[in-house]
Amino acid sequence: MQSDSIFSNNIPSARKEIESLRSYSAPLEGRRELLRLDFNENTLGPSPAVLEALQNIPAHHISIYPEYEGLREAVVANLRGRGLASSLNPDQIGLFNGVDAAINAIFHAYGDREDLLLTTNPTFGYYMPCAYMQGMEVVAVSYEGFDFKFPIDTIKKILLDRKPKLLILCNPNNPTGTRLDAEIVLEFASLSPETLIVIDELYEAFAGDSVLPIVNFRYTPNLIILRSLAKTAGLAGLRIGFAIGSSDVVNRIHRVTGPYDVNSFAVTAAFAALADQSYTDNYVREILNSRHWLESRLETLPNRYHLEGGNFFLIWPRSNSCDMVKSLKLKGILVRDMSGKKLIDGSIRVSIGTIEQMQKFLDAFSSIEKSSCSI
Ligand SMILES: Cc1ncc(COP(=O)(O)O)c(C=O)c1O
Repeated sequence: MQSDSIFSNNIPSARKEIESLRSYSAPLEGRRELLRLDFNENTLGPSPAVLEALQNIPAHHISIYPEYEGLREAVVANLRGRGLASSLNPDQIGLFNGVDAAINAIFHAYGDREDLLLTTNPTFGYYMPCAYMQGMEVVAVSYEGFDFKFPIDTIKKILLDRKPKLLILCNPNNPTGTRLDAEIVLEFASLSPETLIVIDELYEAFAGDSVLPIVNFRYTPNLIILRSLAKTAGLAGLRIGFAIGSSDVVNRIHRVTGPYDVNSFAVTAAFAALADQSYTDNYVREILNSRHWLESRLETLPNRYHLEGGNFFLIWPRSNSCDMVKSLKLKGILVRDMSGKKLIDGSIRVSIGTIEQMQKFLDAFSSIEKSSCSI
C-alpha cells in the first residue's frame, strides 16, 4: 500500500511485532451476486424470524448502546435443548464480535511474548497472525499422510515436553476437514493443565465431534470452546460468536474487549436465531444430505479430493488451482485457492451448499477441466 504521508519515513513505529506483521486479509469484496462457495457460509440465508426481528428493531435501539441481558441464558438454553450442555451456567458464556474477535481476545489475554502457541498445519489462517502479534513462538504440527490424520502423538509429546501457553485446534479442521475425537481433546487437557486448550468448533454441526457434551469445566478449567452462529444460522454478516468454558477463563478473556463490542443488531438476530433452532437444524440436515449426494459424485471423477468433516471439501484440479478459481469465477462461482498451503497445495476448497448448488459447481468444474486438459 502506498503511504499518504509526506513524513512516511518518520511516522511513529508500531510495536516491533506489528511492523513485521502482514494483515490477515481475505478476498471478501464483490461476492454478493455470485454463488459463494469460498467462505463456508450458510448458502441460503438466516431464518425468516431473524429478518423479522431485525426489521422490527425500534429506532431507540440504534441510538443507545447495546444490552446483552438474557443472551447468555438463551445460549445455555439452546445448548441444553440440543443435549450439548447439561451443567453450563450463563457466566460460562463469553459473547464476542464473531469467533474471530474471541480468538483475538484469547491471544491478548493469554499469549505473552515468547510464550508458545501449539497448533496444527494447515489450519484456519487467523491463529498465526494473532500469535505473531503477541510475539509468541509458534509450533504448527502437520497433519499426517495422504488423508490428513490428526497428529495425536506429536501433539501429546509437545504438550508434555514444553507445556505450551496455548494449544489451539480447529475441530473439524478448516481446511482439511480432519476430525478429532472429543475424548482425545480431554486427554490433551489433562496432560498439561497449565496450557489453555482452545477448540474452535465452528463447523462441528456439519459432521464433527463436539467436546461440549462430555466436558465439565469444574474439572477441566483449561479448556475453552468456540462456537458461532455465522456458518449454521447464517449470521456471518452480523458478527456474533461465543466462547464457552470455565467462568474464570471467560472472565479473563472478556477483560481485554470493549464493553460494547457486540452490536444491537447481532444481539437481536442471535436471540431470534437461537429461538428458531429448527430452522438451523433443517439447514444443517440439507447440507448433510447434499454432502452425501456430493460424495457419490466425487467418486466418479478422476480428481483427487478430500471430504471429511465440516461443510467444505478439497479437490485438486488437473490444471493449475489458481486458474481454476479464476475460470469458476467467470462462470459465477467463488471457491478458495489453497495454493502455497502446506500439504494441500494445488487444491481448491469448496463450501458445501444445497444439491442444486453443488450440481452447478460440478458442471462448471468438469467443463473447465475438459477444456483446459484438452489444450
Ligand atoms: C475455523 C474458523 N474459526 C473462526 C472463523 C471466524 O468465525 P466468525 O465469523 O464467527 O468470526 C472462521 C471463519 O471462516 C473459521 O473458518
